[in-house]
Amino acid sequence: MSKTLQAIRGMNDILPEQTPLWRYFEGTVASLLDGYGYRQIRMPIVEFTDLFKRSIGEVTDIVEKEMYTFEDRNGDSLTLRPEGTAACVRAVLEHGLSGGGQVQKLWYMGPMFRHERPQKGRYRQFHQIGLEVFNLDGPDIDAELIVLTWRLWKLLGIRDAVTLELNSLGTSEARGRYREALVEFLTAHLDQIDEDSQRRLKTNPLRVLDTKHPETQAVLVNAPKLADYLDDESRVHFEGLKARLDAAGIPYVINPKLVRGLDYYSKTVFEWVTDKLGAQGTVCAGGRYDGLVEQMGGKPTPGVGFAMGIERLILLLETLEQVPESISRQVDVYLCAFGEQAELAGLTLAERLRDQVPGLRLMVNAGAGSFKSQFKKADKSGALYALILGDDELAQQVVGFKPLRGQGEQQNIAWSALADHLATCVVQG
Ligand code: HAM
Repeated sequence: MSKTLQAIRGMNDILPEQTPLWRYFEGTVASLLDGYGYRQIRMPIVEFTDLFKRSIGEVTDIVEKEMYTFEDRNGDSLTLRPEGTAACVRAVLEHGLSGGGQVQKLWYMGPMFRHERPQKGRYRQFHQIGLEVFNLDGPDIDAELIVLTWRLWKLLGIRDAVTLELNSLGTSEARGRYREALVEFLTAHLDQIDEDSQRRLKTNPLRVLDTKHPETQAVLVNAPKLADYLDDESRVHFEGLKARLDAAGIPYVINPKLVRGLDYYSKTVFEWVTDKLGAQGTVCAGGRYDGLVEQMGGKPTPGVGFAMGIERLILLLETLEQVPESISRQVDVYLCAFGEQAELAGLTLAERLRDQVPGLRLMVNAGAGSFKSQFKKADKSGALYALILGDDELAQQVVGFKPLRGQGEQQNIAWSALADHLATCVVQG
């Protein structure tokens, strides 16, 4: 027996019932970013594997365990992008967008791929909207990124459900000194920490800090603190950011354990988290990566950015019942035509209305059918009004205008008056 065709586990179809909410979300973010002067960039979904190894870090979960990597027909090793920062930096370098200290404020949107264990809020193909800013090294731009997300949470009606967690990882020198101290401390407590942390101690010791293991957490209480190793430059930067957030009235929590799962960060790191989604509560995360461009072969170029997980934010909108009612209706008017002559007239009338009433969402019945069946389809489409065109209406050059959701009686409207009528009761109303 043939196996039923199925999508790959963790890779979801976004069905027509769900796309209005996606489009509302994406549209809201896009117009917000227009308002802040960010410009969109679109990168390919596939890149050379080496790009991700060099930027995200060889000993991160993403590179070690989660990438979809394959050899193409030329024998090149390619990878489906697990995130957007690496490709964005590559594109900026390749096209000289950051040359001569040019400031770039960029955003992108699209699918990312990670071979993680799928669960609610965690998928193998998921979608991000990401922002990256180049050639600005002050805390003012870190603050702007946070301020604009804070505005977004308000626009979406989810501000009360998210908390901002902040930390500073310091410069790479400061982090290097801290790493040594942490390794020394944990090595002295090796028998008290879990196996995974023992492994991380050798590969990526800072990641031990965000262990979920209670015994290791207990050991970490007495571990050296990253904050004590911060250099002056990072400390001043961090204070500058906090002062701006205070001035903007944005609440935050300092989380000294926040280290992030990608290696490229320095100084500021932050995450917006919610307790409304279970285990996958980080809806938006990022930070500064001042060394990354240079590490990838460019001139020293400060960078900072973040990405938000669209699926998680959509889930949050649904959980908090913040889905605007207006987005579920996709058809305003449904045109029913009875008989061949009426159908022909209906076609030209519909096209004329589309010319005359911008924004009108008009569905024309296709596949003919009886009164009963066309009205059933009109009702199912969600339209507010049906336009009825039969032989009588044709003879009088009118249409029957029938409210479908109980707003008044059916009436005849002259073709010449129809556009104005629709503009008032559908588009403006
Ligand atoms: P990230 O923390 O790996 O950072 O991902 C950012 C966001 O993408 C997460 O907070 C989460 O909302 C969402 N996300 C990540 N993995 C999944 C998944 N498997 N399923 C669903 N959603 C997921 C980055 O990707 C960095 N590139 C962010 C950045 C930009 N830093 C600086 N610039």
